[in-house]
Amino acid sequence: MIVSARAPTKVTLFGEHAVVYGYPAIVLSIPEYVVVEGVRSDKFLLRSGPVYLNKLSIIIGENAIHVARDTESDLVRYFSYVLEAVRSLGLNGLEISIKSRLPVGAGLGTSAAVTVGTVAVASKIAEMNLTKKEIAKIAWEVEKKVQGKASPMDTFASALGGALYISKAGSDWNIRRLSVENLPLVIGVFRKRKTTGELVKMVNEKLKEIKVIERVLETIGEITNEALKALENKDLALLGELMNINHGLLEALGLTNKEVACAIHSLKQAGALGAKMSGAGYGGAVIALGDDLDSLVSVMRSCGAEKVLKITSLSNGVEY
Ligand code: MEV
Repeated sequence: MIVSARAPTKVTLFGEHAVVYGYPAIVLSIPEYVVVEGVRSDKFLLRSGPVYLNKLSIIIGENAIHVARDTESDLVRYFSYVLEAVRSLGLNGLEISIKSRLPVGAGLGTSAAVTVGTVAVASKIAEMNLTKKEIAKIAWEVEKKVQGKASPMDTFASALGGALYISKAGSDWNIRRLSVENLPLVIGVFRKRKTTGELVKMVNEKLKEIKVIERVLETIGEITNEALKALENKDLALLGELMNINHGLLEALGLTNKEVACAIHSLKQAGALGAKMSGAGYGGAVIALGDDLDSLVSVMRSCGAEKVLKITSLSNGVEY
């Protein structure tokens, strides 16, 4: 019997990278899904779906991963840990197929969605009845192993859905669902030049070498808290300004590239209330808040976005 799960992707509205160091972040789960299908089997087999994932052809054997192409892909590395997660759920084998219309590592949490979807499917096959929160926790453990450091942001957004405010008190993370139905946003997906792991490491190295970086991360945390109030007050003009300031600090951390910088500049000229990179950076996602979403869509396209999404509602988390 085929068991399937649909796991949503996400955009980070505020706080990426700073969240890795315990500062707060705001994340939106978007209705752009990764579909994972699984069948009980005595071996591990991953079949890739159409479009972007077609680049991959992976057979996961007992101890090895054989990759036909795209060996550096985030997805390949993720799967070695997904395999561990699946095994930790007590399964001896699983045949999995993945369908996604988004490129892997685009900054939309695709890899986290793949992980969440796979854990959901595996847990159903193992008849474990895991809750969305339990799935999120297992998927987060996987991310921590892959990235070295990871916040619960991407995995919890995919598993739980909605708009989430993520903050840390002591060693505990708090995840609060916000009463945000929707925000007028356009998302542009640009070719990503570096992996999330590499970029998280780069920021970590800068933090060790340059004293002021700690203050930059702390300020991103303060911006996120101001943005939380702006969201609660539905003050879109202030929210947009705060997005611009957050982007400036991510740029200061060295996380943008030419395409992203060009898009941000053009989006503001076209009347966006705010624009920022979203996710790990160096390509990947750019988000823009505004009234005239169609003109922002055209700007994203003319700046070279490989995919453009208009957000009209949020997702409700993993369906399984
Ligand atoms: C990646 O989408 C977001 C980062 O903040 C990493 C993380 O939160 O784990 C860069």
